[in-house]
Amino acid sequence: MTALSVERVLSSQPGNLVDITGSDWKADPFPFYAQLRQHKPVLRVRMGRMEGWLITRYDDVVSVLRDPRFVKDVRKIAAAAELSRRPWVPSFLHALEQNMLDQDAPNHTRLRTLVHKAFTPTRIEQLRTHIRSLSEGILHGLKQKPKFDLVADFALPLPLTVICELLGIPEQERSLFQRLSQQALLPPTTLNMVRLMPAMWRLIRYIRRLLALRKQSPQDDLLTALSHAEAAGDTLSEDEQVAMVMLLLIAGHETTVNLISSGMLALLDHPEQLAWLRAHPEGMKTAVEELLRYCNPVETATERYAAEAMTIQGQPIRQGELVIASLASANRDETHFPNPEVLDLKREPNRHLAFGQGSHFCLGAPLARMEAQIGLGVLIERFAALRLAVPRDKLRWRNTPVVRGLKALPLMHAITR
Ligand code: HEM
Repeated sequence: MTALSVERVLSSQPGNLVDITGSDWKADPFPFYAQLRQHKPVLRVRMGRMEGWLITRYDDVVSVLRDPRFVKDVRKIAAAAELSRRPWVPSFLHALEQNMLDQDAPNHTRLRTLVHKAFTPTRIEQLRTHIRSLSEGILHGLKQKPKFDLVADFALPLPLTVICELLGIPEQERSLFQRLSQQALLPPTTLNMVRLMPAMWRLIRYIRRLLALRKQSPQDDLLTALSHAEAAGDTLSEDEQVAMVMLLLIAGHETTVNLISSGMLALLDHPEQLAWLRAHPEGMKTAVEELLRYCNPVETATERYAAEAMTIQGQPIRQGELVIASLASANRDETHFPNPEVLDLKREPNRHLAFGQGSHFCLGAPLARMEAQIGLGVLIERFAALRLAVPRDKLRWRNTPVVRGLKALPLMHAITR
């Protein structure tokens, strides 16, 4: 593999396009983004097997996310030839294409209206004490281990438990959900799809069974709400219910895990900032906003397609072409953030785009914020002397599209009795 230099990125050519899911990109995309914002704000790239235009300036990213000429559902606008280049998807997975993140208005609005009540700041605030005791419980178990992996042992189980509890997924099934959602986020190559298939089939069948059970015997959970959902006389089809459960499950933990783990790494990389946070726990809210801006748990927004031909920064975009808006690059745009490469936990104002923008703005933002504020808060409160258990350059990033996160974050601490 050719090493990824700034020159190679800037000269990314048809036939030899840079892949933004590759581990050489994921390890540190920020120097590339800085050059792109300056010299090539719209770049042709690969994202796994797909090709598209990477948008890197803050104002362009906002325009793309707010412009109704960009659509989510490619089937409405792309030519047959363009569609045939997309990875093959077996028919039993077609139900998942009905998830709201892949829909446009008015269908998107209808689906979002049905679930947004469960995620309002007021509803989420009611979970604060519970999330704190969950965090304390998980971390208590790690106190006696001199070494642990923050990703597998804390950053993942916390949001996974919370979203499974909200949905009403029984405890014994949660590790299956977690394995599957990690696989679901791998680049959609044919090989990955084949590997994923049997487990996905089992999972979808299982969700259908759970929804049917809740329809008969309601409980106080989201599965029940979805199986009985009605808004303005509208109901959710069974496929839409399954797609919603899968979306909430994946979006509900595959992102927050990266905020907690990359956030902790950023704090370890900046000991003076960590010391300030320990001394000023009341600064946690602003700190988490800055960690969202700086770490970018979701690196790029999901796919958008040009419904008509247009030009961005002088680059012609043809109808049906894929456009990838980089939230991570926008969040380091020097025209919007003074000293964007500096981690400043007190930064205000901080109009970062980590949760996106426009109609698909993250539904779970209040929950994600609370999980990170509590999770990181309890972590630094309980572990006074945390440090990396491996050399910094041995850390590895997952090569996934859209999200950006560490494979593992081995930490050590002095056991206090
Ligand atoms: C740090 C954690 C999180 C980050 C950074 C994040 C980021 C994002 C972003 C950038 C989008 C928009 C994607 C686009 O426009 O293409 C999004 C959408 C979404 N997020 Fe989150 N998210 C996080 C946590 C959560 C959680 C905890 C949930 C829980 C339910 C959630 C549920 C959703 C849903 C359902 C959507 C789709 C909304 C729609 O299509 O209207 N997210 N998220």
